[in-house]
Amino acid sequence: MDFSDDLLARLEHARHVMFFTGAGVSAESGIPTFRDAMHGLWARFDATELATPEAFARDPALVWGWYEWRRMKVLQAQPNPAHRAIAALAADRRVSIVTQNVDDLHERAGSTVCAHLHGHLSRPRCFDCGLPTRHPAGTPTPADGGARMTPPSCRKCGGPLRPGVVWFGETLPESDWQAAMAALASTDLLFSVGTSSMVWPAAEIPGWASRRGSCVVQVNPQTTALDEIADFNLRGPAGQVLPALLAASERRRHAR
Ligand code: OAD
Ligand code: ZN
Repeated sequence: MDFSDDLLARLEHARHVMFFTGAGVSAESGIPTFRDAMHGLWARFDATELATPEAFARDPALVWGWYEWRRMKVLQAQPNPAHRAIAALAADRRVSIVTQNVDDLHERAGSTVCAHLHGHLSRPRCFDCGLPTRHPAGTPTPADGGARMTPPSCRKCGGPLRPGVVWFGETLPESDWQAAMAALASTDLLFSVGTSSMVWPAAEIPGWASRRGSCVVQVNPQTTALDEIADFNLRGPAGQVLPALLAASERRRHAR
C-alpha cells in the first residue's frame, strides 16, 4: 500500500493527532457494525431501532438481550491490527482517541481513550433511577445470534437495568464530550476511522477539525459523507491500512 509523501510528512510533523473511531475499527475483531445486516435471530431487527429508550421501554428483554449478545461478542473478541497500530502510533507522539465505540478494544490494545462519546457496554445502570451497577463476572451466553433476556433488577428501586450506552435521542456524557472538545482544540491531524459519519453530534467532529485548519484523513473501505471534506481518503479496512501507514512512517523516519 502506498501513501503520499505529503501524508507521511503530516504524520511526522503533527503536534496532536486525533483518532476519531467508529464501529468499523472493531469490525475486524468480529464485532458487527451497526449498518451490517444482522444475522440469526436478529435478522428481523434494525440495530438503529433497538438503540432507543422507547424500544427499551416497550420491550426491555429484547433490547437487553441484544446488548448482552454484543457484550458477549466483545468479551470473546481481541483487539485487531487497527487498534494495535493506533496504540503504537501513540508511543512517540501526542495522540487522543475519541471513540463512538462502546467496547474496550482500544484499551485492551494498550491505548488510553480520551472520550467514549457513546458510553460503555460494561457499565449498566438502572433505567428508572440511574444507579450505576456492574455485570456479574463471566461472559453472558445468549444463544448464538441472540435471544431475549430479562434484564436484572436494580438493587435500590427494583427497576430494570439498561446498558450504559448512549441511545438515539439521548445526550452524550458531558465529561467525555468536554474532553473531546478540549482535544479537538489543538488537533492538527485527525484520522476518522471506520465510521459512517451519520450519527450526530459525533459525526460533526471531523468537519469541525477541518474548518479549524486540521488535516483530515479518512480510513474506510466505503465512501461516506466525509469523502468531500477529507484531505486524504484511504480506502480499505483499518486493520490493513493503519499498520501499513505505521510501517511506512517508520521506514520514512529511518531513511533519514
Ligand atoms: P456504523 O455501523 O454506522 O458505520 C461503520 C462504518 O465502518 C461504515 O462506514 C463502514 O464502511 C466502515 N467499516 C466497515 N468495516 C471496516 C473496516 N474493516 N475498517 C474500516 N472501516 C470499516 O458505525 P458508526 O459510524 O460507529 O451509536 O456508528 C455511529 C453510531 O451509530 C454508533 O456509535 C452507534 C450507532 O447507532 C450508538 O450506539 C449511540
Ligand atoms: Zn433503580
